[in-house]
Amino acid sequence: MPNRGARGRARAQAGASPSSIAGGFWRREAVLKFRSYSFASPKDPPPASTLLRPMSFYITTPIYYVNAAPHLGHAYSTIACDVMARHMRQRGEDVFFLTGTDEHGEPVALAAEREGLTPQELVDRNAPRFEDLMPRLNVSNDFFIRTTDPEHQAKVQEVLARIRDNGHVYEGVYEGWYCPRCADFKTDAEAGDDNLCPIHRTPLIREKEDNYFFRLSAFQDELLRLFDEQPDFVMPRHRYNEARSFIASGLQDISLSRSTFTWGVPVPWDPKHVFYVWFDALLNYYTALSYARPGEDLTDRFWPAQYHVIGKDILKFHTVFWPAMLLAAGLPLPQHVFVHGFLLMAAPKADGDDAPELMKMSKSMGNVLDPFAIIDEFGADALRYYCMRDVSFGQDGEVSTARFAVLYSSELANDFGNLASRTVAMVHRYRGGVVPAAEPDPALAAEIDSVVSEISGLLDRADLTAALEAAWLRVRRLNRYVEEQAPWVLAKDEARAGELDRVLASLAEGLRVVAVVLHPWIPASVEKLLATLGAPELDLDGARLTAGRLAAIDKLEPLFPKPK
Ligand code: MSP
Repeated sequence: MPNRGARGRARAQAGASPSSIAGGFWRREAVLKFRSYSFASPKDPPPASTLLRPMSFYITTPIYYVNAAPHLGHAYSTIACDVMARHMRQRGEDVFFLTGTDEHGEPVALAAEREGLTPQELVDRNAPRFEDLMPRLNVSNDFFIRTTDPEHQAKVQEVLARIRDNGHVYEGVYEGWYCPRCADFKTDAEAGDDNLCPIHRTPLIREKEDNYFFRLSAFQDELLRLFDEQPDFVMPRHRYNEARSFIASGLQDISLSRSTFTWGVPVPWDPKHVFYVWFDALLNYYTALSYARPGEDLTDRFWPAQYHVIGKDILKFHTVFWPAMLLAAGLPLPQHVFVHGFLLMAAPKADGDDAPELMKMSKSMGNVLDPFAIIDEFGADALRYYCMRDVSFGQDGEVSTARFAVLYSSELANDFGNLASRTVAMVHRYRGGVVPAAEPDPALAAEIDSVVSEISGLLDRADLTAALEAAWLRVRRLNRYVEEQAPWVLAKDEARAGELDRVLASLAEGLRVVAVVLHPWIPASVEKLLATLGAPELDLDGARLTAGRLAAIDKLEPLFPKPK
């Protein structure tokens, strides 16, 4: 197996968090160790020496299967995490953001066989497509994990051996239904009368094989207690309810290993078996911290994760299996699992009927938006904005190229792009390119400044769509301010020069503040604008209207030009 440690090291350095962002009053007093759910968690306040340290903020995407090409659905989860990670860095928090690829399991082994490749050859060919997506999306992940990394595999073996040593594993025979496309076992009820996968509508396989089992059933009460004591463990609420009723309806033990194929992490106490791919995959969130930085173990600094962000298709694995595994291993539990909805797109109906049906975007349905194509034409910011703006985060929502085009021109180009262009142009036209050092309008300042705490509160709850809306309200407020104050009228009257100074200072500073808070969503455009304003700092401490903060500014090319 090739050693990919060097690859990991290169990524780790390339993805380091921007160091220019220093924290200040946004640092919360809570300290990582005291926010995790743990039955033994101390009730005492943290020691005074820890109070001024930035809070660790660890956020993860699902790791993506490599047997298909990346599509907008994968980009969606990743962009969402990036928005949160970037915002937390602006608050001065100590952030670690993980994404990567899930490379083991039967579907990969079967795909490789069909193509006449070894599984390793297949994953080595396909994983870079996902890794390359990250810089194209302008995503600031701190590490990219591949579950074929030897360090990951060794750690998986260590943790699962501990779960066995703790008495939660036994040997048995599995007999039942299995969907190779879900890499998941199905109950008789799920198989129904037709023995089809309820998700893929493809035939299930009747499996009978020697397995090691994980005693999931033993964790039912502890899981219910977790859900009762930590009602925001799963968010949003309707997903919490779904997960809780799954647990309350009774848990069965689950297969921990497979013995009919070999593409996986070998079970150390019985190498005829490999671990069931979900156990290997879920552990990525924990293992990555031990080797993402060469010579340094980040586990104590970042574990447990604050947010696992996932799609609703993998709820059971993350909200039931995963916390049970961590309890079995004696490890602290993540603080939140945020479950978002699906991007839906019209797909041709299978029966050839002309009315298209709205379906989950997926390769097999042929209804995928290619993120690379959108980025090539409109840029990553436009894609990032669209995904977070048009589909309420946590709900399903339809996406379409037509709607994308409407929002690009009405919101990005008109609302924000024009505000930036005309503000910069007026400073040049009326004040020779120097922002007046006047005191900004206090009423406007109050309306704009409040965006920082509002967005912070919303993003603490991963309410990404509402947070973006809060920023956009201020963009619109500034556009109205231009119309209300009519600087072109003030400019005609020398006696009103002071008023014009104040209006221009208010606008330029207002623009700077909304740009700073919008950075997580549209980072490249904001950096371009802030460079023009001569104020590249991104920390939220500085995001309030301040007299004399800006001086000479450059000219600005349109931020969101008409596509060619
Ligand atoms: N490998 C597993 C996850 C293991 S995590 C320990 C897997 N991979 S996947 O490639 O199928 O990716 C699933 C995730 O991609 C979803 O949970 C979701 O986050 C994202 N999405 C894939 N299609 C999507 C949509 N159409 N809409 C929104 N998100 C989608 O499952």
